[in-house]
Amino acid sequence: MTARILDGKALAAGLRARVAERARAAGIAPGLRFIRVGEDPASVVYVRNKDRAAAEAGFDSGTIVLPADATEAALLAEIARLNTDPAVDGILVQLPLPPQIRTQAVLDAIDPAKDVDGFHPVNAGLLATGRPRLVPCTPRGVMHLLAEAGVALPGARVKIIGRSAIVGRPLAQLLIGADATVTMLHSRTRDLPAECRRAEVLIAAAGRPELVRGDWLSEGAVVIDVGINRLPDGRLVGDVAFAEAALRASAITPVPGGVGPMTIACLLENTLDAALARRGLS
Ligand code: GUN
Repeated sequence: MTARILDGKALAAGLRARVAERARAAGIAPGLRFIRVGEDPASVVYVRNKDRAAAEAGFDSGTIVLPADATEAALLAEIARLNTDPAVDGILVQLPLPPQIRTQAVLDAIDPAKDVDGFHPVNAGLLATGRPRLVPCTPRGVMHLLAEAGVALPGARVKIIGRSAIVGRPLAQLLIGADATVTMLHSRTRDLPAECRRAEVLIAAAGRPELVRGDWLSEGAVVIDVGINRLPDGRLVGDVAFAEAALRASAITPVPGGVGPMTIACLLENTLDAALARRGLS
């Protein structure tokens, strides 16, 4: 079998256009503010791309940059200001933060109604209790990709490698909500290859370059690769050995151009959801 490539870039472009059209039809320009602390090169690129995408969708978007040595109090003051600013619907503090700042204290300070990352404990708790409100962007993007792949989730054996708060855990909750049979695999799992071979859908979110080999897959599996890893030679690879996996899978996401673009599109979707909810329009 040669896999169908799930084109996240094209799917994201369509989703971004639909979000822009829904905002336009509602007559609103959702307000989105990014906060970046310091000049971490990857964060500079990520925030620029997200800010640009929001502006292209007609959002009122902007980035606040604090110096790398900013105090936690200074960042919390900025968040408090945005929480009460009626023009702001969504707040995204780019991670990672410098070591003098406690990430959890910062995430906890964001108004849950403006938490377009879906990282606040209130939003995580709502998702975990089956009442999702604002859900993390990458898991939301994966659900779109599975729909695009035509996967029938009810009863399907879905295995997730990686139990992070940003991807693995919230994605498991969304999949449970869609009636999938979900298994969490992680660094302490015994015989990871054997577990993966039982998957009809395998989602790799471990942050380990090319961890998943072709012979870990059952014939016809759908493979979603959340990993983005830079190798010492400069190549960008996922958590799945793509060429090998593509010979066994029925559908697979590439890296880059798979999950990554969907994450940005879902940030816009979350921000529109927050903006509509704050205006009593949803
Ligand atoms: N850094 C890497 N990914 C993310 C993300 O999804 N949200 C935020 N806020 N920071 C990140």
